[in-house]
Amino acid sequence: MTPPDDVAALFRPFDLTPRLRLPNRIVLAPCTRNRAEHDLSPTPGAIDHYADRAAAGLLITEAVLISHGIQGYVDTPGIFTDAHQAAWAKVATAVHERGGRIFMQLWHPGRMAHSHFHGVPPRAPSAVFDPGPRRQTRVSLEHEPPVPLSEGEISGILCDYEQAAQRAIAAGFDGVEIHGANGYLPEQFWRMHTNRRTDGWGGTPERRARFCLALCSRVAAAIGPDRVGLRLSPMAYFSEMKYMPGDNLALDVILSRLSGVGLAYVHTGIIDDKPEAVLGGTCTQYLRARWPGVLVTNGALTPEKGAALVAAGEAELAAFGKLFLANADLVARLSQGMPLEPYSRAVLDRFT
Ligand SMILES: Cc1cc2nc3c(=O)[nH]c(=O)nc-3n(C[C@H](O)[C@H](O)[C@H](O)COP(=O)(O)O)c2cc1C
Repeated sequence: MTPPDDVAALFRPFDLTPRLRLPNRIVLAPCTRNRAEHDLSPTPGAIDHYADRAAAGLLITEAVLISHGIQGYVDTPGIFTDAHQAAWAKVATAVHERGGRIFMQLWHPGRMAHSHFHGVPPRAPSAVFDPGPRRQTRVSLEHEPPVPLSEGEISGILCDYEQAAQRAIAAGFDGVEIHGANGYLPEQFWRMHTNRRTDGWGGTPERRARFCLALCSRVAAAIGPDRVGLRLSPMAYFSEMKYMPGDNLALDVILSRLSGVGLAYVHTGIIDDKPEAVLGGTCTQYLRARWPGVLVTNGALTPEKGAALVAAGEAELAAFGKLFLANADLVARLSQGMPLEPYSRAVLDRFT
């Protein structure tokens, strides 16, 4: 069946990398499910959740914790033990059996970790936090002051990311997406609000960019750059993150140096990709102007808008979060011009 004209651009195949051909331009945006076993293995429900969406060009998992002691939200899975790896392998196998492709999003929440879960205070570039309640599924928490990371701890975290990426590949994933968006650790390093350091990891745009660049290079060297994507938020919009003039000098350093690393893609991380005065356009336009490689757009896209952006060359791929959560058969519905179920928070309660 020929897809309707207004979404046809989403149905053009795309060679993401020499070893990964996508049958369409539709991406499942990473969406936390808040479902995990006591040991932080993904629940069996994750298998069907992802396999049911395998018709996408590319699936990106929910954010997955790279190490012990960094959890900040209820029931978020990890990829740092043999049990986690074995459970995720079942997800990758099921997706592949249904003809799909899947990347795992690798996550360190930094200052958004919480001692409630593991008894130690969060670690972050600097001791910056905003006292007060934090939005949280199924538990009430206050923000906590983070402990500034030592040089040794930073090296250890880079190592944790590398091992997590290797585990994802060993579990059968096609690649990993580094979660550098939404105010989590890599963004905490490059933004001035959360990075007040005066050592080699802060103080200048180059030094604020250093963690994200070191991280991308390290993971790319471990599993191959074409198996690595990076999500970035040019707007400060989540995790109590604040924009400060000068922030984006560091982001621009990251984007200009990244072209030498050869990543598979960069992915916009924003809830609603509307024009922002401080960026001079949308987040996707900001990234497109500075990143010569494959770009995944996202942020309150309708399928028609996503298709228009792809058709206009403003992005190669379009990611859908809430719509794909509400419609596991999103790809079939779009290709057949069928109506979509609207998203509501009730969709999240159906996860197992
Ligand atoms: C329930 C839910 C969970 C999310 N979890 C993540 C996540 O784990 N990692 C991430 O990078 N973004 C996460 N996001 C953000 C989405 O990936 C996406 O950027 C956002 O929802 C806007 O796109 P949409 O309008 O297509 O949903 C989440 C969004 C929702 C609604």
